[in-house]
Amino acid sequence: MKASIATTSVPISLGDRSYSILIGENLISTPSTWLGLSKAACALIVTNETIAPLYASKLKSALEPLYERVMVLSLPDGEGYKTFETLNLIFDQLLGSGADRKTVLFALGGGVIGDMTGFAAACYMRGVPFVQVATTLLAQVDSSVGGKTAINHPMGKNMIGAFYQPELVVCDLDTIQTLPQRELSAGLAEIIKYGPIADMDFLDWIEEHLDALIAKEPQALAYAVQRSCEIKAAVVGADEREGGVRATLNFGHTFGHAIEAGLGFGVWLHGEAVGCGMVMAAHLSHQLGLVELSFVQRLTRLVVRAGLPVQGPKLGAPEYLEHMRVDKKAQNGQIRFVLIDKPGHAVVMGAQDSLVTSVIEQCCL
Ligand code: NAD
Ligand code: GLY
Repeated sequence: MKASIATTSVPISLGDRSYSILIGENLISTPSTWLGLSKAACALIVTNETIAPLYASKLKSALEPLYERVMVLSLPDGEGYKTFETLNLIFDQLLGSGADRKTVLFALGGGVIGDMTGFAAACYMRGVPFVQVATTLLAQVDSSVGGKTAINHPMGKNMIGAFYQPELVVCDLDTIQTLPQRELSAGLAEIIKYGPIADMDFLDWIEEHLDALIAKEPQALAYAVQRSCEIKAAVVGADEREGGVRATLNFGHTFGHAIEAGLGFGVWLHGEAVGCGMVMAAHLSHQLGLVELSFVQRLTRLVVRAGLPVQGPKLGAPEYLEHMRVDKKAQNGQIRFVLIDKPGHAVVMGAQDSLVTSVIEQCCL
């Protein structure tokens, strides 16, 4: 008989926007999961065509005792659909069904559904409550937490969006069992990220338990999700709107977003681009004399073991630089990178184009 895992609750402290991240097994079907949400007549579950057949009716049944009407909207699946046109389908559904300004939106899915549904919630009638029901590892350890919501623009990743916090985040570990291995690896990238920027003990733990995580062992998943959420909750609690330390959560993302935009959204998974981007950012940190080569090699080994690429696509340094100049961290056209200045600590700083170019040439196939 499998040992059951105790549900944990990680608080995220943001004054009147505080909420909990629930982590455990079978949470979708457990009535107590849904206690304490805003009262409303109507709820809309936003999901996609892959996740709907797996979990939408389970969530709908759990919510039916709480709302007079529970609607389900299934969107097309993929990063390529994280667009204004798809976002508008959510507004079409809400307006077409007469949903009022108390309607609660439930984002049932990974980061794409979570980011889009959160942005729809921020905008619909100037703001309605929403809940993140995160079904990918990446969403459970990162995207569902902290209130960043967005859609992509053809000229840049996540460029149109809002900070808008959910009322609750639910990480039902059972949902990870149906996640394809490639998507699991993408989530591992965002877990690994927390080590170099914040907690080297956690990096040691990840190295020790990586095989268990890849095998989707519930105990290992539970700890990885909990520790990731604790680190993210502390950072977001200190800097909700990214005036400072929150930018360190973007370790690997400056190079990563350039890979995603350069290849076209959806060719590499976000987590794959972040995995490779972390290796590139570690090399840049080393080139600047901030960390030893042995640290770069250690991180590279772990990223490889997680099943993630460590060589970027050969887009050419000018194209990388062009995409990185529209990164949200850029100031006045000057690219700013999240770099590791000692293992377990990150800084945000610029670097000379010539140095960045040499890293791109070294790290891209
Ligand atoms: P995703 O949402 O595209 O989901 C990955 C794939 O897995 C999809 O095909 C999805 O349909 C499928 N899927 C989801 N749950 C499943 C399940 N339980 N079983 C089987 N299949 C399932 O990708 P993602 O990696 O979750 O999220 C990536 C997105 O998150 C990017 O758009 C990125 O920009 C965003 N992001 C946002 C933040 C933030 O702070 N808001 C942080 C990191 C990433
Ligand atoms: N994923 C980066 C952040 O939430 O700030």
